[in-house]
Amino acid sequence: MQLTFCRLRTHQWCFILFNVVLFHILLFGADLVEEYFLRTLPAPYADVKVQEARERARKLDLSSMKANISKAFTVSNSEVCSGKEVFLLVLVFSNPENSTRRDTIRETWANLTHVGGYGTLVLFVLGKPSSEVTQLEVTKESETHQDLIQGVFLDSPGNQTLKILVAMEWTLTFCPTAWFVLKTDEEMFVNLPTLVEYLLNLRSHPEDLYLGRLVHREMPDRDAGSHGFVSPSQYPEKYYPDYCSASAFVLSQDVVRKVYVTSKEAPLSLPPGVFLGICAQKAGVTPVHSSRFSGRKHIQYNRCCYKFIFTSSVARGNQLLQEWEELRNSKDCSLLQTYYGLVSCRVMTYLDGFKHFSIDALQNDALRVSD
Ligand SMILES: *[C@@H]1O[C@H](CO)[C@@H](O)[C@H](O)[C@H]1NC(C)=O
Ligand SMILES: *[C@@H]1O[C@H](CO)[C@@H](O)[C@H](O)[C@H]1NC(C)=O
Ligand SMILES: *[C@@H]1O[C@H](CO)[C@@H](O)[C@H](O)[C@H]1NC(C)=O
Ligand SMILES: *[C@@H]1O[C@H](CO)[C@@H](O)[C@H](O)[C@H]1NC(C)=O
Repeated sequence: MQLTFCRLRTHQWCFILFNVVLFHILLFGADLVEEYFLRTLPAPYADVKVQEARERARKLDLSSMKANISKAFTVSNSEVCSGKEVFLLVLVFSNPENSTRRDTIRETWANLTHVGGYGTLVLFVLGKPSSEVTQLEVTKESETHQDLIQGVFLDSPGNQTLKILVAMEWTLTFCPTAWFVLKTDEEMFVNLPTLVEYLLNLRSHPEDLYLGRLVHREMPDRDAGSHGFVSPSQYPEKYYPDYCSASAFVLSQDVVRKVYVTSKEAPLSLPPGVFLGICAQKAGVTPVHSSRFSGRKHIQYNRCCYKFIFTSSVARGNQLLQEWEELRNSKDCSLLQTYYGLVSCRVMTYLDGFKHFSIDALQNDALRVSD
């Protein structure tokens, strides 16, 4: 009797264990496989053109750029970086109209000047607004906070690639000593402490780093009626090179030089992420994937999950404020807590996607019926 009971229990335990293992494989397996297959291969240094580009980057003369650069910026805040040890320079791409959002960012994740003794500096990159009134507000905002960089181009969806180029010029001219540069967008939440810790734990001399959420073998949009149409004359090949989602990616300072040098050879009309991917490829820099970057996706809030990931898209400012309030005042998470935080936010994000998906499907059905 006792024996049968024990044996049954063993079976039950096995069954439960099997389910738990299966659950975790389904949940994290894709990430592990992804990270394995998207590992960096050694860059093709052998290519003569790549070698030549890297040589040009090494010899890039920045002093001549300095002489001309004032013409490229309305607001340059050229002194914010000098005399400081900046480990991570964060460039947040923002719309001139969205000063409320910038305030929210200043009050939340960007309210940091260093992590464990390593300096961080958060700046906003803007173009010019279409209205004079907004420009006056931007000038005032810059005087108050001294954390804006404003280029002379019009801030429009079509000029975001130009914005990347201008941000790189600014970095090379006014902040060439920053070790790493994070490019991100204003709708993102960024976990700076975790990201800095991760960067500190890289090899002792981190070079050729281009890290983010990898977009693998994407095809150019060939639909002539679509907003993001890319003609074969702009980009003839079938696939884009692998690149990091433009929502957030990290470059080491040497990579900023390298991609700047090759940027003349890539068309500015391509989407910003793709543009950078092409420049990086020409410079022999391979993008590295990390699933801790969310891309444009919103990761459902969970305290220990948010302490682990690098970014999440949080479109609503008040949501960001609320979550930040809890996050800032909370204790560290143990390994087990982090693990279950990740399980929880993974499942919730998945269900969320499913909800959107089914709502979209319902709406499509409704449209079809009304047609
Ligand atoms: C600086 O400007 C002058 C005149 O506009 C131009 O000839 C020169 O090539 C520029 N230098 C750089 C480094 O862009
Ligand atoms: C930044 O955080 C400090 C406390 O760490 C707080 O006193 C300060 O008001 C915050 N700044 C903003 C702009 O919220
Ligand atoms: C980009 O900025 C330039 C300079 O302000 C402007 O002439 C051009 O129309 C803008 N391009 C787009 C696509 O908005
Ligand atoms: C920024 O402003 C644009 C246009 O004014 C708006 O569409 C967008 O939602 C705003 N983004 C954020 C994060 O507030």
